Amino acid sequence: MPRIVLLGPPGSGKGTQATAIARALGIPHLSTGDMLRAAAKAGTPLGLEADRYMRAGELVPDRVVLGLLADELHRPGGGNGFLLDGFPRTVPQAEALGRLVRIDRVLSFELPEERLVDRLTGRRSCPVCGSVYNLTTQPPKDPARCDRDGTPLVQRADDRPEAVRTRLAVYDAQTRPLLEYYRARGLLTRVDAQGSVAEVGARIANALRDVPRG
Ligand code: AP5
Repeated sequence: MPRIVLLGPPGSGKGTQATAIARALGIPHLSTGDMLRAAAKAGTPLGLEADRYMRAGELVPDRVVLGLLADELHRPGGGNGFLLDGFPRTVPQAEALGRLVRIDRVLSFELPEERLVDRLTGRRSCPVCGSVYNLTTQPPKDPARCDRDGTPLVQRADDRPEAVRTRLAVYDAQTRPLLEYYRARGLLTRVDAQGSVAEVGARIANALRDVPRG
């Protein structure tokens, strides 16, 4: 089964595309951001530590994230095929991942910074079913409620302007170097993340047409 990594700045659409890609390839979608938010919501010591960094838009320390991910990959069948969304984010994380498993393909989502800010500040999500909307580009029928279950929508704490600025700067400083890391290993495919969800999805399907399956 394919082992794929999604790289890209905050708001570039990784989470939006990940569900469809994982379903099409029959692999689990592993989002370290979702895992960390779940741990924070559950109030575990790890989650509470992570929450302080996430709210500020900083990266959670490598040892915390690596521990979470290693647990996932060591489950029965865990390393057989996956779509990693939000991991790795630093060169030490990429090196650690490379020691655990072989990676088949890395997709880099590319979008100008002004579009990223619009997408992040307009994002709202349902705290119950996890549906993600955007007040401008993917609006719910009622701007305050989830289309699927009517729950009041919430804004992520790190989608407020101060945290968004920090997240974009952190991406440039700590995650962007991974583009060269994976390019040098012949694994990187750049994807234009502008346009509609369907247009970006079609580009991704094309980029993955030759990825090894099963
Ligand atoms: P994480 O949850 O991974 O957040 P992120 O990488 O910042 O990415 P986002 O979820 O913000 O954006 P996305 O690219 O998924 O965009 P989306 O599809 O939602 O991480 C959060 C935090 O956790 C980090 O800051 C860090 O603290 C910590 N963390 C996580 N992993 C870590 C790690 N490995 N190491 C250390 N710390 C870690 O789309 C955004 C919006 O745009 C939505 O409103 C959507 O509806 C809209 N949209 C999507 N596609 C389109 C389109 N084509 N057209 C129009 N609108 C669109």
